[in-house]
Amino acid sequence: MKIKAGIIGGTGYVAGELLRILILHPNVDIDFVYSRSAAGKNINVIHQDLFFEKKLKFSNSINENSDVVFLSLGHGNSSKFLNKYNFANHTKIIDLSQDFRLKNHTSSHKKTFIYGLTAINSEKIKDATNIANPGCFATAIELALLPLAKNKLLNKPIHIHGVTGSTGAGRSLSETSHFSWRNNNISVYKPFEHQHIAEIKETLQAFQPDMNNEINFIPLRGNFSRGIIITAYMDCDIDEKTLNDIYVKFYKSIPFIEISKTTIHLKQVVNTNYALIHTEKNQNKAFIVVVIDNLLKGAAGQAVENMNLMFGLDHQAGLNFKASYF
Ligand SMILES: NC(=O)c1ccc[n+]([C@@H]2O[C@H](COP(=O)([O-])OP(=O)(O)OC[C@H]3O[C@@H](n4cnc5c(N)ncnc54)[C@H](OP(=O)(O)O)[C@@H]3O)[C@@H](O)[C@H]2O)c1
Repeated sequence: MKIKAGIIGGTGYVAGELLRILILHPNVDIDFVYSRSAAGKNINVIHQDLFFEKKLKFSNSINENSDVVFLSLGHGNSSKFLNKYNFANHTKIIDLSQDFRLKNHTSSHKKTFIYGLTAINSEKIKDATNIANPGCFATAIELALLPLAKNKLLNKPIHIHGVTGSTGAGRSLSETSHFSWRNNNISVYKPFEHQHIAEIKETLQAFQPDMNNEINFIPLRGNFSRGIIITAYMDCDIDEKTLNDIYVKFYKSIPFIEISKTTIHLKQVVNTNYALIHTEKNQNKAFIVVVIDNLLKGAAGQAVENMNLMFGLDHQAGLNFKASYF
């Protein structure tokens, strides 16, 4: 029997990606796609890449007995949504917002949320009923730094730059997502105070509890639509081979994470659920580069990994895409 899946926030970008994955997923039937703004319309009116999907409509009602429900709402709205509905005890919730990611928010609405970074938490996720799916920048940066944290090597200030595509900001139009502004442009936003820093610190401290260094993170808006590239560097005493070996060992046999000996770039992972990682040593600095697709490994793809693990399915089911390279 197939898993019945519901999606909330149906017109959003992440919901569109969830639909693209789940419609073709071998173990899933879409139960409902809830939308406040488009109820009654065919989903392909909004998600026009799904033009071949002729029957599925946005709905104004939900099924509180579905097997799994993806909350694909902006921050603060998932919590409000769970106040209104009473899902069955067996219904698994996968929340894409940051409402339940931090330790002091993981117990809420009589539910316990497990942080869904699949690379480190797969055993806990298998037994979980509720998942807080990690943020997109948080996913890339945590994957960049976790092997160092595991080896207690994060002992100096950490410097990170990250560039994100415009889909990272969601569907609503704003000054900075307007084509005329974004095209041929690049800009910094929220330097040193991006909302994912707290989530990143908590995840690293689980591996290196005394890790309390500065995390100097400078996010940038790129003039492309999807993908995230981050670079991280810090003082570190180990040599280049040891650095690389630490990453190879940490991510050995973890699906969707690859270590590249050669330099990497965004197009290798856009439209895939992969995180690609490259490490180098430059004088006394460890230098790490990570690329992901913000909508897949950074959101809908990792959410489906979580679903696969929670239902005992093949970890990679429905998620094997080749990058759209050209
Ligand atoms: N975009 C990314 O790359 C990315 C990456 C990681 C995590 N996330 C997180 O995933 C979630 C969804 O992101 P997104 O990019 O898909 O956002 P989005 O494109 O803005 O979509 C969110 C959807 O939520 C519904 N909505 C809007 N305001 C609402 C309100 N006040 N109450 C209830 N529903 C409301 C709308 O759908 P309806 O009108 O159809 O109901 C809207 O289309 C966010 O929490 C975001 O931070 C996004």
